Amino acid sequence: MRIVLLGAPGAGKGTQCKRISARYDLLHLSSGDILRQERAAGTELGKKARSYMDSGGLVPDEVIVEMMAEAISKAPQAGFVLDGFPRTVNQAVKLDESLTGNGQRIDAVLNLNIDEQVVFERMTGRRSCPQCGAVYHIENLKPKVEGECDNDGAVLIQRPDDSLEVVKNRLRAYHEQTKPVVDYYKNNNTVYDIDANSGADEVSALVFGNLDALVEV
Ligand code: AP5
Repeated sequence: MRIVLLGAPGAGKGTQCKRISARYDLLHLSSGDILRQERAAGTELGKKARSYMDSGGLVPDEVIVEMMAEAISKAPQAGFVLDGFPRTVNQAVKLDESLTGNGQRIDAVLNLNIDEQVVFERMTGRRSCPQCGAVYHIENLKPKVEGECDNDGAVLIQRPDDSLEVVKNRLRAYHEQTKPVVDYYKNNNTVYDIDANSGADEVSALVFGNLDALVEV
């Protein structure tokens, strides 16, 4: 299966992709996580991406398309779930072109819909593990020990781009550049609209309901 998750910042793409990846044994590819790894490693790519990410803008398409093509080329036969990519219509077109070249296509697109007020609550309360990438929330998805990762005990951090001002810019980029990607897929693929305002388990039930039906076909 080749799956794309779309949605505003904080819609829960990363949270749901981790669960999808575990349930269907798919490779979870998050463009944001790959960029953060590149930054932490101090690579040229990471340096190029820094100013865009810190301001809440999108990293240029040519950088992202090449980076994701390389990551996708390493995916196992079972498939992958894409989190945060594609984020512009141009990225979606390039992805389709490269998949078609290999006789493949995107099998399902899940579009997580969320109210703007909920985005701000989730972003300001998010905490992440700098070691394993696990994601928590100070109210909704608490770790067992406050401030520590359940998996490895690392001290949880707040992402620098989760400040109010940067979140506003990320939402602007979403509305202007990523929302048209939903229409692009609606014209070419099966898109499942998911109400992502409720709790993570309720959202997962909706997601799995759609994907289980696909797997059984
Ligand atoms: P990226 O890391 O992709 O950020 P994003 O899309 O803004 O998404 P987030 O990771 O913030 O949110 P999410 O939807 O994954 O939510 P999460 O599950 O964490 O991108 C960062 C930057 O990199 C971009 O701004 C851009 O500069 C660059 N970039 C990345 N990809 C790019 C691309 N393709 N092109 C160009 N530039 C690119 O959940 C959020 C919080 O809510 C967590 O605390 C979680 O615990 C909690 N939560 C989740 N679901 C629920 C629920 N149902 N109920 C209650 N709480 C929940």
